Amino acid sequence: MKVLVTGGCGYIGSHTCVELFQAGYEVVIIDNFVNSKAEVLDKIEQITNKRPFFYEGDARDIELLERIFNEHEIHAAIDFAAYKAVGESVEKPLMYYQNNLNCLLNLCEVMQRHNCKNLVFSSSATVYGEPETVPITEAFPLSSTNPYGSTKLFGEMILQDLYRSDSTWSIAILRYFNPVGAHESGLIGEDPNGIPNNLMPYICKVANKELPCLHVFGNDYPTHDGTGVRDYIHVVDLAKGHIAALRKINDSQLLDIYNLGTGCGYSVLEMANTYAEINQVEVPYQIDPRRPGDIPECYADTKKAERELHWKAEKSLTQMCKDSYRFTVNSQK
Ligand code: NAD
Ligand code: UD1
Repeated sequence: MKVLVTGGCGYIGSHTCVELFQAGYEVVIIDNFVNSKAEVLDKIEQITNKRPFFYEGDARDIELLERIFNEHEIHAAIDFAAYKAVGESVEKPLMYYQNNLNCLLNLCEVMQRHNCKNLVFSSSATVYGEPETVPITEAFPLSSTNPYGSTKLFGEMILQDLYRSDSTWSIAILRYFNPVGAHESGLIGEDPNGIPNNLMPYICKVANKELPCLHVFGNDYPTHDGTGVRDYIHVVDLAKGHIAALRKINDSQLLDIYNLGTGCGYSVLEMANTYAEINQVEVPYQIDPRRPGDIPECYADTKKAERELHWKAEKSLTQMCKDSYRFTVNSQK
């Protein structure tokens, strides 16, 4: 079975392509390298001994999508192609709406024309806005505090409307918590340009002495050590969640929503200290004021995914820290 993966050269997409090959699928990628590099295709091949079919181009390009669907019998699509930086989305909202929503809309349009109606969509725990309690179930109220979050919320709404209009679609909306880590080969991982916004890539750069120290954004939250708590999930576990979701939508026609997290929350200090200890590196830090828009605590209720997808995150925080560091060191070579 062939799966089209938009944004398949990116962080989560590349790991998912590896898992797709390992589960016996064929893989077709479309990516314009706006946030990834062509060498990822070689790395996927090195890991799996298989090379994805690849189309370089914009996932909004309907003609290119048509060509892909004409040249391949696509059974399902996974839509990763999007911009993902929250701060940038506040500065350039139109760019975010334009890219993230049109990637989804145009993909759905071409899929519909080709009667391919199995879709997995990358959403985010950001759609829960500021949750009143934790753990967060899929039934929690939704909101958004920035344009990036709104693109995910609107994307979900578009898919709900599409399914309401035609229930022969089969759609899994996956709400990721905080993906970290890298493939254990050290060949693929997260490699953001410039100074990272997210915690784990920042810690990697501090450990690797590319940045002097970690800025801990606030130690006065109502959490066990005062720093923000999040549900960090190993990207390989997350990638496997996509295989489970594909199986689910293949077996039944539905639109369903799943949290992909571990159900465990770790604080910023726990992350920095575990990373330093496991990798025998130094991660100096200083306490800074809270980052505007941050919430104290966020972790998933994972029961629905466990029950219905028969999937559960398996990798520990130690593995997340080890694999992240291995990739950081490797990508310097
Ligand atoms: P990423 O930036 O590493 O990957 C996205 C890929 O899509 C990149 O390879 C980029 O080049 C490509 N792309 C973007 N716009 C494109 C376009 N118009 N045409 C073709 N290719 C395009 O991001 P990621 O971390 O792998 O995230 C994948 C998806 O998961 C995104 O939709 C993101 O919003 C969502 N998500 C990510 C996180 C996270 O923390 N990484 C959390 C929740 C949700
Ligand atoms: C952020 C985004 C969210 C997105 C997610 C995944 C914001 C407000 N939210 O989530 O929409 O889906 O990334 O990419 O940007 N921290 C530090 N120092 C740092 C970086 C982070 O102390 O240099 C802290 C944060 O305050 C937070 C935790 O680390 O408590 C995790 O931060 P981060 O990795 O940016 O993820 P989120 O804020 O959860």
